[in-house]
Amino acid sequence: MLDARCLPLTRLPRGVEVAERHSLARIETTWGLLMTFDHESLSLLGECLRSLEQGFGHLPDFAPRLDLDGMRTVLLEAAERMRDNYPHHHPLYIGQMLKPPHPVARLAYALAMVLNPNNHALDGGRASSMMEKEAVAQLARMFGWETHLGHLCGGGTMANFEALWVARELRPAQAVAASAQAHYTHARLAAVLGIPFRKVGVDPRGRMDLQALEETLAAGQIGTVVATLGTTAAGAVDPLPEVLALRDHYDFRVHVDAAYGGYYTLAGNLGPEARAAFDRVGEADSIVIDPHKHGLQPYSCGCVLFRDPAVGRFYRHDSPYTYFSSAELHLGEISLECSRPGASAVALWTTMRLLPLEPGGAFARGLEACREAAGMLHQALNQDGRFAPLFPSELDIVVWAVRAETASESSARARRLFAAAAERDLHLALATFPRIMLEAAAPVARWDADEIVCLRACVMKPEHREWMPEILKRLEVADEDRGREP
Ligand SMILES: Cc1ncc(COP(=O)(O)O)c(C=O)c1O
Repeated sequence: MLDARCLPLTRLPRGVEVAERHSLARIETTWGLLMTFDHESLSLLGECLRSLEQGFGHLPDFAPRLDLDGMRTVLLEAAERMRDNYPHHHPLYIGQMLKPPHPVARLAYALAMVLNPNNHALDGGRASSMMEKEAVAQLARMFGWETHLGHLCGGGTMANFEALWVARELRPAQAVAASAQAHYTHARLAAVLGIPFRKVGVDPRGRMDLQALEETLAAGQIGTVVATLGTTAAGAVDPLPEVLALRDHYDFRVHVDAAYGGYYTLAGNLGPEARAAFDRVGEADSIVIDPHKHGLQPYSCGCVLFRDPAVGRFYRHDSPYTYFSSAELHLGEISLECSRPGASAVALWTTMRLLPLEPGGAFARGLEACREAAGMLHQALNQDGRFAPLFPSELDIVVWAVRAETASESSARARRLFAAAAERDLHLALATFPRIMLEAAAPVARWDADEIVCLRACVMKPEHREWMPEILKRLEVADEDRGREP
């Protein structure tokens, strides 16, 4: 039985007794950062728009003619179409890696749309380019870099692409090595870049296996090792200190893919191994971090950082029709993409003004709340004989198998529970894991397959901490429903 009572009372919503937790209406967040595009905060936009317009008040009047009736009709149509979605903004959505942007990010993005700045050249977005440089410098500083080269981009894929491209320019024809649990993008990007890719095995906790890595390095021709700090499927943190130690013996670049996990360097409640890895990120040659994952930003907002600003030379290109407005650095000169949304930079900059990247600050506490919520879920699953949670989450992803006689039956049960939970408005995810990562949890008596489909929860909203009792209750009911199925 999944029991909300196994959770410490201090973690439960204020003023609500355990016995009373039966209606959603009773659950109130005490967090104060309800991450929806709410009607109240929207009213701020008008005030900010008027302030922005004052900067252009000397211009002759110009108001685009709008067909408000037509706009209303199609917007309502769009609103209706958009109902066909999982409720990503709601705490009962605990499935994929989808985190609602902070309201201030949404508002800042909308505000910037007055100008729709393009951060390619300074004349496309002077203010937003400066804001991008400042925001990116803050991200670099979070990892201890006072100097760097970097910029925002479309997301983790694009950011990793630039990092691996620079690596290829520095080490032509040498291979990229990443763990079997690294994001699929690395193998694909290596193929796009025309360089070999080596998949390194993982240990039972889904982290890069060091012996396997050393064997790969000893075989030669490895130009870059990708250490993932927060794997996509299970949130595992590769052993970066040991990877860095191997760099003393074998000559390779270290690229840290912290697209999902990077902000966790600010959290005060990491386990010792994850802490040790995050403490060494600054020794990597390049880093990827996605503000559109844990940085409370709308899509598309990724970021690539290089330790050595001199790699900017690889970006050099001739563009006779841009870069004429200023001798200062235009971001297009150090980015592979040409047009890029200045609004992303404005949203990120504004969010960091409100929630600075400080250990112990409100932003860091939000991440710590996610970790606590993940711990609560893991603990509850662990105390329930029907489930076999994998290792405790290093960040905030929790994975569990459903106990069964065989691996294939376990997968089938997980699929049924996933569907039954969705019917109870509890949205989880599914992910397939190899036997090596499952054996310690002993979910099955007989292995008739080498992998099992598991339930997966990305516990990425601070509100999940207060909603965990409700989540567990719905999981319980969903499992009873599943049990009644043939
Ligand atoms: C570790 C990691 N790297 C890269 C990516 C790709 O990022 P994006 O989806 O922003 O392209 C992801 C996405 O989940 C990820 O988790």
